[in-house]
Amino acid sequence: DIQGVIFDLDGVLTDTAEYHYRAWQRLADEEGLPFDREANEALRGISRRASLMKIIGDRVYSEAQIEDMMERKNQYYVDSIDAISPTDLLPGVLDFLKEIKQAGVKTALGSASKNARPVIEKLGIAEYIDVIGDGHSVERPKPAPDLFLFGANELGVDPAACVVFEDAAAGIEAALAAGMWAVGLGPVERVGEAHVVLSSLENVHWADLRGKLQQLAK
Ligand code: G6P
Ligand code: MG
Repeated sequence: DIQGVIFDLDGVLTDTAEYHYRAWQRLADEEGLPFDREANEALRGISRRASLMKIIGDRVYSEAQIEDMMERKNQYYVDSIDAISPTDLLPGVLDFLKEIKQAGVKTALGSASKNARPVIEKLGIAEYIDVIGDGHSVERPKPAPDLFLFGANELGVDPAACVVFEDAAAGIEAALAAGMWAVGLGPVERVGEAHVVLSSLENVHWADLRGKLQQLAK
């Protein structure tokens, strides 16, 4: 039976994916690098450095310039998350977190972001998250399973008894590599590899979802 739930943050609990996009767009514009909303889709869920590498493509930059660009993008992002409040939770998230807590299931965050902790506090959901796995927790980013395995380990739950909620292809891949159940949030083209695909957490109930996963396990 499922004993642990691991949530990605950006694009699952809140739409900071949009703020990451705007911060990258501003940096790309400053650098004269081609970038748009569509190119941004490939950055969902991947680390800050890996994102920048995709944006710069074949252009050559020194390590110092790369660090400066990561720093600038992060400053734009940090400024934009300053005003985040509980109203920025995506539809259905708070009710779902309450149901999980009620059911006695443990929860972890599994976000690649180094800014995850302040975002969780600003969203007012710290009491619903038992363990925080973020951009500081492990070395290898998604699609490696490390971050989710870190969460399961901290929760003291067998990976096979964990379910991951993710909006990114790299995150679904990481969850499957960790031997966990995967629930994809978003279009099938992006998260179709997951065991269950949902458009959002709105009107999603833990008891139903748990039943569905138990059914699949048979
Ligand atoms: C999440 C987001 C990515 C972001 C990454 C690193 O995975 O989905 O868009 O690049 O975190 O975030 P950070 O705040 O550390 O730059
Ligand atoms: Mg995400």
